[in-house]
This record gives sequence, structure tokens and C-alpha cells, in this order.
Amino acid sequence: MSYRHFRLEYDTDDLAWLQVDVADRTVNVLSAEVLDEFSRVLEDVSTHSPAGLVILSGKDNGFIAGADVSEFTRIENREEALAHIERGQRCMDALEALPFPSIALIHGFCMGGGTELALACDYRLALDDPTTVIGLPEIRLGIHPGFGGTLRAIETLGVRHAMDMMLSGRAIKAHQARRMGLVDDCVPERQMFAAARHFLRQRPPRRRAGWLDRILGSRPVRPLLARWLARKTNRKAPRDHYPAPYALIDLWREHAGNRQNMLAAEAASVARLITGDTANNLIRVFFLQERLKQAGRQVRDESRHVHVIGAGVMGGDIAAWCALKGFTVSLQDQSPERIAPAIGRAWKTIQRKLRDPRLVRGTMDRLIADADGYGLAKADIVIEAVFEDLDVKTTLLREIEPRMRPDALLATNTSSIPLEELEKALKHPDRLVALHFFNPVARMQLVEISSAPATSETSRTHIASFATRLSKLPVAVRSSPGFLVNRVLMPYMLEAVQLYEEGVSKQTIDREARRFGMPMGPLELADTVGLDICLSVANILSQRLGMPVPGKLGEMVDLGLTGRKNGQGFYVWHKGRPQKERDGKAGDANDVQDRLILRLLNEVARCLSEGIVDDPDLLDAGIVFGTGFAPFTGGPVHYMQHVGIDTVAARLDELAQRYGERFARDAWFQRQLDGE
Ligand code: NAI
Repeated sequence: MSYRHFRLEYDTDDLAWLQVDVADRTVNVLSAEVLDEFSRVLEDVSTHSPAGLVILSGKDNGFIAGADVSEFTRIENREEALAHIERGQRCMDALEALPFPSIALIHGFCMGGGTELALACDYRLALDDPTTVIGLPEIRLGIHPGFGGTLRAIETLGVRHAMDMMLSGRAIKAHQARRMGLVDDCVPERQMFAAARHFLRQRPPRRRAGWLDRILGSRPVRPLLARWLARKTNRKAPRDHYPAPYALIDLWREHAGNRQNMLAAEAASVARLITGDTANNLIRVFFLQERLKQAGRQVRDESRHVHVIGAGVMGGDIAAWCALKGFTVSLQDQSPERIAPAIGRAWKTIQRKLRDPRLVRGTMDRLIADADGYGLAKADIVIEAVFEDLDVKTTLLREIEPRMRPDALLATNTSSIPLEELEKALKHPDRLVALHFFNPVARMQLVEISSAPATSETSRTHIASFATRLSKLPVAVRSSPGFLVNRVLMPYMLEAVQLYEEGVSKQTIDREARRFGMPMGPLELADTVGLDICLSVANILSQRLGMPVPGKLGEMVDLGLTGRKNGQGFYVWHKGRPQKERDGKAGDANDVQDRLILRLLNEVARCLSEGIVDDPDLLDAGIVFGTGFAPFTGGPVHYMQHVGIDTVAARLDELAQRYGERFARDAWFQRQLDGE
């Protein structure tokens, strides 16, 4: 029989080889149509009764990427959701119930529904390659596995590994997957088929959780472990904002040990979650992320050599990241002594990321200290990250332009100097772009891309593609002070300083921001960024946009309090952690939260009015990925629409009356209220 998404063949050993190759898609996804066909395939295989079934992917990039997330957005109610989930469960149950052994051969990514399918097989083999990653990332979409994955992950891996994997949504590499028992073996490509045959012929016992996990899963112990898991989860994802992890823990606590009940409860739980606000918003954020990635796919960047000038905090880390992503990197600064610390830091980052000494050495070999700037003439892309000073930057640009290849791109990492000023230093400004990374480079996913009036379209699309190759999410922003992210963050941080100046305790201020859903409080963030840097960005924004800067910030910098880097800022820092002792007055919690968040939202409105980004969705994407703004809200604009533009506007008016002009709402609100 022939299928649209599968190829089924039988070999002379009487083994069935089933290739998943979803039509018209670059990756395998388990849409409803694919699942229906999979059911028919399984019936077909059953009637042949082969000696075993091998499931593998026909795509180069990976096994199965998971369910088709776009279908989630079309689900209208719980009944529809339940029908969809039960369809998936039936497929996996049928696969598990086959009267002959089955094995999944996993290469590249194997995520969500793909992992659930693999877990329904008797055995799993992973290709021994750095690109192999296996995960159950559903929690990041506000749900948990629904195709029997919670049950089978716990049965196979034991509750500790399975919960860790599902609650974190973490992707597991091949060797670790073998150590955890997620796969039975991890083999090189040339041995994959022979190993599959071996498993199907020998039929070793299936992987099962060990005795300790079985005890932990027993009825009397379950509530204790469940409580511990919930407490641990609460630190990262509070229940009010993120219901899915708790639903998963409850599901296990109540139904572990009874397969049928667990499957039914799993389906009901996912059906409930997927139709809720949090999942809706997190799925929205997932698509916003896809949109940012798409922006980098218009052209294919073929660069190989990156030359970075300025080996400070940013330049050094940018160079390390580029090397990590496979580029040859030359790193220039005023002297070898200034480059050395950056190379030391790079080694640490690369070591932490790659672990394998051979890979670390290979990557370090690509990172070249280049005090004389020999790499400049060879580089495809030159990134400038020298002092934030117009004269220093323009002198440098004038000097390097004649030495660069005529087709090389020139990217500046400036945070605040307008590109209109920088392009004046160049003979060929069409190649100038801003590629604004965030600190710490290795952790922050977003990069802002901006252009000068003379920047060519080719340079713009090219740099976006380069950013995507660095596994960053590029967002195009208009050249304007603070671009998008710093501009939106600054009033929020300055309001925090203002509150502090008024005597409100820093604990209250930071706790209220976190209670709203921010990943870190604004005072802790200011300390982390560095109070001197905050002050200089605040002064620039204040000059150009009239943002008032509370005197306290300057006073603290004058006293030498720069935050985390010298151990003293709003907090005293010890071993990289702020010491949170009690201080100041508690303040009215709701008022504190509103003052912080509404300053941010008002600035968001201003950015929309000024066209800093092309549309509200891009703004939400930029702010969620650039600041960690409460992802469960779907982004600041989406949040305002959800609570009501009129409600936000009325509260701003109230705050403006009490606290003054800085809360005066932007005209964007009125336009929205007038339905324009
Ligand atoms: P930094 O002061 O740590 O490093 C600047 C480096 O540039 C120094 O090592 C200096 O020796 C070198 N340099 C200065 N003039 C040079 C020249 N003519 N030739 C070669 N090297 C030269 O500064 P940081 O913080 O790394 O900032 C660099 C750029 O990145 C600035 O434009 C800044 O606005 C931007 N930026 C900074 C962020 C941060 O959090 N620090 C975040 C995002 C962007």
C-alpha cells in the first residue's frame, strides 16, 4: 500500500522498515492527518505480522519535531482538544500493543509527540552525533505531554528523570539520553541498522524505572515527592501564571500506578490546559519566535570569517559566541593585554557549552587574538564593539573602512549612538548596520538590527541571516535612541529607582515586578547591568526623549556603587548573589507594581506611535525575548489588549494625577480607544 507521509518496506529478514517523511513539510510533524495515516500504517503492518518494526525518519534534519503546533491554534473548545489528543493516544497505544517488537531510530531533533512515539516503541536508538537532541518541551507551550508521554516517560525513565525532563522542557543530548535510560543505546551512523536488527532479534528486556523510582512512585511516598516538586517549580514558574507544571505533578500524584486512569486524566488535563489563556499566550510567543527566525531566512549568509574590534565585555563575548557557532574569529583591541582576558573568558564559556575537550580545542583554535588587526582584510563581517563614544567610533570606522574587503559587512554594537552619525564617517555607508547584542551574550536570545538611511537592503537581510546562524533571534528596529529594548526597560528601571528614593523597600519593588511575571526585579537588574551603564543610557534617553532620571542613580554612581561588578549597588553582592536583607517601608504592593509596569507599557505605546518596529507583534516578540517580559501574557501589547486598553489608560490617568507627567499616556491609547 502506498502512503502520503510514510514509506513502508519489508526486508528479507522479515523486518518492517517504516520511514516517516511528512509530505510538503521540511520537518516531520504529527498533524491530525499524519496521525490518521499512521493508524492505518500500523493496521497494515499488523496484518503482515513481521518479525519486528523499525521506525525512522526520511528527513535529514531529524526524527519528528512533535505535534503540529499550528493545529493547536485552531482548537475551539475542550471537546475538540480532547478528540485531537485521544487520536494521538490511540496511535501510541496501538504502536505499543503491536505483538512484535518495535524500535525507533533517532537522529537530529526528536521532540514532543516524536519522543512520545519513540517511548511507545519497545526500544530506542540515538545516533551518536551532537545534533541529536531528545525532549518533551510541551511545558514551554503551557501544556504537558498528551499522547501517553507522561505515563511512558515515567515508566521508562523513572519519576525523577522524567519529571525533570518534562518540567524543564530541556532537550537531552544522545549520550545523556543513554545514561538516563531514555534510549537503549547511542551508536554511530554506520552501526545504526545493524544495532536495530540486533535489538529486534535479541529482544533484551525493555527499559524500566529502577527500584528507587518505583518506591518514590508508590502511593504513600507520592504526595511527599509531589509537594517537593511543586515547591521547586514554584521558584521558576508560579502556579498563578503557569498551571501546566502543577497539572503534570497532580496527574502523577493522583493517577500513577493505574495506566488507564492516567491516560484518561492526561488527555483531560491537556485538553483543559490547551484551551486556557496561558497556553494560548505561550503558543503565541512560540509563533512570534518563529517569525523572528523567519526574518533571518530571506537570504543565506555564507560568511566564515568574523573580525571583532574591541575585546571588552561585549566584543570579547561576541567573539567567543561566533567561534562557538563555527565561525573563524579574529579579535582586535588596542593591545594584546586587553585581548587576553577576553580569550580567558571565551575559554570558560566554550568549555561550559561543549564539555568535550576535542571540541573545545577545535573551537578555541578558531578564535584568534589579533592585536594588529590582520584579520580585518579577510573578514566577511566586521563587528565594532569599542567604547560607546562617537569620536572613538567614527575615528575607528574611518581608519578601518579602506582596509576591509569591499563586500564585507560592517556591524556596530552601539547601544545609543545614532547610525545617522556613524555613517558620516564612511565612504560606503550602504554596508553599515547595527547588530545590537545584549549582555550576557551567551544567554540573551534577541539581537536588535537597525540600519542607517544609506544601508542597503542586501546588508539588512544579510545581517539578519548572520544573526540566525548565531542562533539569535533578530528583530528589526528603527534607528532611534535605545532602540526598542533598552528604551522600554529604562522607564521601568527608573521608576524602581524613584520608588527606592521614596523609601519603598527594594524587596517590595523587586518582588512586585516578579509577581507580575518579570524574570528579575528592576533593582536587581540595574545592579546586574551596572549602575554606571544604566546611568549613561538613562542620560542619553533623557536628553533625547525627555525621560526624567531620579537623582539617586547619579548619587550612587558618584559613591562608586556600580552594582554586581564591584559587589555594591542597590544590593550588597556576595558570590554573584544579591543579599536580600530587610529595609525601607513595605509600600502599597499594587501601587508599586502598577507604577513599574505602567511606565513600561506607556513606553511600549510610544514606540508603537513612533514606528520603532513594524507592528505590535514584533514589539511583543522583541520585549518578550529581549527583557523576559512575562511570556504567559503573550507580550506587553497583547497583555494590554487582554486587560483592556481602557483599563490601562484609566490607570495611567490616575497615576499621572498622583505622580505627575511621567505617567501622561501616549496618544496611542486614545487612537486605540477611538478604534483607529
Ligand atoms: P568595554 O569598555 O568593556 O570594551 C570596549 C573595548 O574596546 C575596550 O577593551 C577597549 O580597549 C576597546 N577599544 C576602544 N577603542 C578601540 C580602538 N580604537 N581599537 C580597538 N579597540 C578599542 O565596552 P563594552 O561594554 O563591551 O561596550 C562595547 C560596545 O557595546 C559599546 O558600543 C556599548 O554601547 C555596546 N553595548 C554594551 C552593552 C553592555 O551591557 N556593556 C550591551 C550592548 C551593547
